[in-house]
Amino acid sequence: MSSARGSSHARSAAVGIGLVGTKFMGRAHSIAWANAPKFFDLPMTVELACAAGRDAAATHEFGRRWGWRASTSRWRDLLKDPSVTLIDVASPNDTHALLSIAALESGRHVACEKPLARTLKEARAMRDAARLAARRGLRTFVWFNYRRAPAVALAHRLVRDGRIGRIFHIRAAYLQDWGGASTPLLWRFQSGKAGSGAHGDLNAHIIDMARFISGLEFRTVVGGVEETFIRERAFVDVEGSTQRASKSKRPRMGRSTVDDCLLFLARMSGGAVASFEATRLATGNKNRNCIEINGERGSVKFDFERMNELDYWDATRPAAVQGWTRIMCTDPAHPYAANYWPAAHLLGYEHGFISQAADIVRTLGGLEPEVPLPDFSDAYETQRVLEAAQRSARFGRSIPLSTVT
Ligand SMILES: NC(=O)c1ccc[n+]([C@@H]2O[C@H](COP(=O)([O-])OP(=O)(O)OC[C@H]3O[C@@H](n4cnc5c(N)ncnc54)[C@H](O)[C@@H]3O)[C@@H](O)[C@H]2O)c1
Repeated sequence: MSSARGSSHARSAAVGIGLVGTKFMGRAHSIAWANAPKFFDLPMTVELACAAGRDAAATHEFGRRWGWRASTSRWRDLLKDPSVTLIDVASPNDTHALLSIAALESGRHVACEKPLARTLKEARAMRDAARLAARRGLRTFVWFNYRRAPAVALAHRLVRDGRIGRIFHIRAAYLQDWGGASTPLLWRFQSGKAGSGAHGDLNAHIIDMARFISGLEFRTVVGGVEETFIRERAFVDVEGSTQRASKSKRPRMGRSTVDDCLLFLARMSGGAVASFEATRLATGNKNRNCIEINGERGSVKFDFERMNELDYWDATRPAAVQGWTRIMCTDPAHPYAANYWPAAHLLGYEHGFISQAADIVRTLGGLEPEVPLPDFSDAYETQRVLEAAQRSARFGRSIPLSTVT
C-alpha cells in the first residue's frame, strides 16, 4: 500500500472510506466524499482513507490527484486497514457481490454502485448478507444518485404530500447514444462482467426513480422487448485500448453478449400502469433520464438533461390558469438546494453524489437523510423488476412479480 500523507488513526466520530474503482464512478465518488463535509453540517468527519484500483502506479496517481490518503492495487488491503469503516464499491458489476459481502463480513458498512448485481441470485446473496450484518449495526447503501437531484426529490415530496393524487401513469425512459458500432467491447458489453446491457445500466435507474417518486411497487411486468443491434465489437485490453490482429490493421472482433436496449410495460400497486425504455442507441440523446407521472390531481415531469427543473401541472387550479409550471429547483425551499448556491446558480452531475454521500454520513451518525436512501433490500426489489422484465422479453409473456423471488 502506498501512502500520500502517512497514516492517521481512525477516530470514532469519523467515517473512513475505502474506495474500489478509480475511473468514472471512482472520480464521482471521490468528489462526493471530499465535498459532502464542506457543503453539509455532518455528525461525523469523513476521511478519504484508501483508494483501490488494479494498477499500482495508476492508482497511486489517482489517489494523489483526487485526495486519497493512501492507495493500493489489492482491494483486500482495505479490509485490513483499521481506518476504513465503509467500503465504497465503484467497480464493474462482476465485483459487487464479492466485494460487498467480504466488506460486510469484515465489519464494514458498504455503499455499492448500481445495478446491485449481475443477477437476482447474486443480489439475493447481497441482501441476505446485509440483513445478517445489520444485526451488528452495519449499514448498506446503493448509489441510485438520481434520487438526489433536487427536482427528483421534490417530485417525491409532491407525491408523498398528495399533490398528484391517485397515480394513473408512469412513463420512464433512459436514452443514451454512445453504444454505436465504433464503441469497443468494453466490460459493459460482456454479460459475464455486466450481467446485462442498457437494461441493468439504465433501467435500474428509472425503475428505482419510479418506485422512489411514486411510492408504488411493481405487480406485473408485461411486453418486454430486448434487442442487440451491434453483435460484434472490437476487443479491448484491460485498460480499454483496441487490440489488433497481428497481420492486419483490422481490430480483433468479439461478440457482444448483452442487450443494447430493453423496453417493457408494467402494472403497479394501486392500479397505475407504466412504461420503461432503456437504450444506448437513441441517436441524439446523450443522457436523457426522463420520467413523467400523471395523477388525478396533477402531473410531474423530469428530464436529467435539464436536471435543475421540474415540470409540475396542478389540476386543482381553476381551468383558466392551469398549465405546466417549470420549477427551477434551486431555491432554499427545495431539497438539498440550501446546501449549495444562491437560487438559479445551477447544480450539476456531481451534486447528486455529494448529496448522497452527505445522506450516508448523516445516516451513519444517527440522523435522517433528506429523502430516503436505498439499501440492499430496497435495491433487491429493483433487481426483481429487472429480472422480471428480462424474463418477459425472453419468454414473451407477462411475469407476475410474486413469481420472482
Ligand atoms: N450511479 C451512476 O449513475 C453510475 C454511472 C456509471 C457507472 N455506474 C456503475 O459504477 C460501476 C463502475 O462503473 P464505471 O463507469 O466507473 O466503470 P469504469 O470502467 O469507468 O471504471 C471501473 C474501475 O474499476 C476498476 N476495477 C475493475 N475491476 C476491478 C477489480 N477486480 N478490483 C479493483 N478494481 C477493479 C477499474 O480498474 C476501474 O478503475 C458499475 O457498477 C456501473 O454500473 C453508476
